[in-house]
Amino acid sequence: MVSPAPFDALPATLAWQQEGLYLLDQTRLPQAIVVERVSGVEDVWRWIHELRVRGAPAIGVAAAYGLCVAMQPLRHFSTQDFQSQLVQQASFLDSARPTAVNLSWSLKRMLAAAQRSATQDPEAVYEVLVAQAMKIHAEDQALCAGIGAHGVSLITPGCGVLTHCNAGALATTGIGTATAPIYMAHQQGIPFRVFADETRPLLQGSRLTAFELQRAGVDVTLITDSMAASIMSQGLVNLVIVGTDRVAANGDFANKIGTLSVAIAARYFGIPFYVACPSSTLDLLTANGSDIVIEERQDHEVTHLAGQPTAPADIKVRNPAFDVTPHDLVTGFITERGIVEQPFDQNFTTLFSSGGGAL
Ligand code: MRU
Repeated sequence: MVSPAPFDALPATLAWQQEGLYLLDQTRLPQAIVVERVSGVEDVWRWIHELRVRGAPAIGVAAAYGLCVAMQPLRHFSTQDFQSQLVQQASFLDSARPTAVNLSWSLKRMLAAAQRSATQDPEAVYEVLVAQAMKIHAEDQALCAGIGAHGVSLITPGCGVLTHCNAGALATTGIGTATAPIYMAHQQGIPFRVFADETRPLLQGSRLTAFELQRAGVDVTLITDSMAASIMSQGLVNLVIVGTDRVAANGDFANKIGTLSVAIAARYFGIPFYVACPSSTLDLLTANGSDIVIEERQDHEVTHLAGQPTAPADIKVRNPAFDVTPHDLVTGFITERGIVEQPFDQNFTTLFSSGGGAL
């Protein structure tokens, strides 16, 4: 199965073909388009951990297929051994990254599907796992499209949209979350421009967002993170849309480090600040942002650029990959079911308690 990339301009983030998982290596972009077949569960774990596949929804889908990759060679096991291995392999994959809830969400769904057919022989349970991963994959594409349909009206002719990190097609298996309204507005012929923050330290904004928007023909301007407030002060930004890795029940949300600064600047300049949030990223079991685990990554990501040192040796470093933005800085969450406004806790429950969605 090959994912639909926006307007056929982009390689697919991932694909499940001939019982194998193929991943686009995002650390090689924009210089090279490299797709590899992953060779085992450790490989899938490493690809997620090293951000070769990244972005909350893409991680969720990759992990679902990753569990199929893990269980494929174990189909000759006894039913009991297969089931116990399944739980262990899911827990191993879940440990690859802590912040994006999509990872544990999709693995829980995979385990629940296997549990429903636990009495069947491992060969049949394996088929159930593949079918469930394909379902999660197809749903991810639909969630992106739903976000686009609800968010597109926010983009008006002449509008300047700022985004941070990459919540684009590359971060999902569809048209992205933050980029979904952008791609739809572009497809409708609305004239507007996008400012993409480069997103230190790993440059997902310049390597990935600028890359994919430019390839799709969107008018995109790359800025460094420290330029965002200045660009806003010049009246060039009318709207901010970012993605998210986990949204707590009260609307506090985690996203790529630097998002909080953008939200504060947007509030100062009176610019609407929206978060594109598929229900697969909504974590109603986490009460507020202080309960979200923030991934700390290695020092060299901050002290080196393209393998070259940019800081003194042995300098003390902090490298949290995400920050938490408090809900009162958020104008609304663009979900596949509609735009959720304050009070978020009540409105999330109302919108998502009636079944459906990915919750
Ligand atoms: O560390 P990354 O590149 O996985 O971080 C990605 C982000 O922060 C995205 O904004 C988020 O996952 C939303 S993707 C639709």
